[in-house]
Amino acid sequence: MNLANIEVKILGLGGSMRQPSHTLTVLNMALDAAGQSGAVTELIDLRELKLPLYFDTRRLEDFPDPEYIRQYLDKFKEADGFIFCAPTYHGTPSASFKNALDFLEFLPRRPNLYLTGKVGGLLAVASGTTGGPTCLTSLIYNARALRLLVAPGSTHVSPTKRVFDQAGQLTDEKLALQVAELGAEVTRLARLLKAERAL
Ligand SMILES: Cc1cc2nc3c(=O)[nH]c(=O)nc-3n(C[C@H](O)[C@H](O)[C@H](O)COP(=O)(O)O)c2cc1C
Repeated sequence: MNLANIEVKILGLGGSMRQPSHTLTVLNMALDAAGQSGAVTELIDLRELKLPLYFDTRRLEDFPDPEYIRQYLDKFKEADGFIFCAPTYHGTPSASFKNALDFLEFLPRRPNLYLTGKVGGLLAVASGTTGGPTCLTSLIYNARALRLLVAPGSTHVSPTKRVFDQAGQLTDEKLALQVAELGAEVTRLARLLKAERAL
């Protein structure tokens, strides 16, 4: 079997309310690399996402626009792999990022729980030196709870003051390569896991 012939869709989730957003820049770099590896990619920019706050005693149909939430969930059901890229707020992923993950509670639990059998590449962006690693650790636990296999190349991109230039470009070559390699790795692992699901 030629794995390169397996079509995979990689969904990116991330960004911040800020414009320009370093997080969105990094996420787009990883998605571009996934695209160059042959994946179909889609971006969910948190700034554009119109989800309300998650309310755990509400049924999906009791939220103001349930159809919008269903369409959001369908993107996760259809994707074979994910790239999550979160800004670090107070040492962990921002509330808007986490709220978007909380809505995945509405994903089906059968035949598989949440995102079982799929891969997630994780990226944490932080302005300081300690926030990136702690945010990445939080993302790893988020991904595990959603039953994702965490791509080994997951990394933090920090400190932004040193690794981005004034124009908002990621100029640290080593980190830029790591981000691109993560996009390629998620694509490769998504293909392997899709092949396994088809057995
Ligand atoms: C409310 C808030 C809390 C933050 N907390 C941290 C933090 O704990 N550690 C850190 O390194 N950076 C922290 N930052 C800085 C952001 O991680 C940094 O600005 C990052 O680039 C934000 O992503 P963005 O450029 O996509 O908006 C914080 C920023 C905000 C707005």
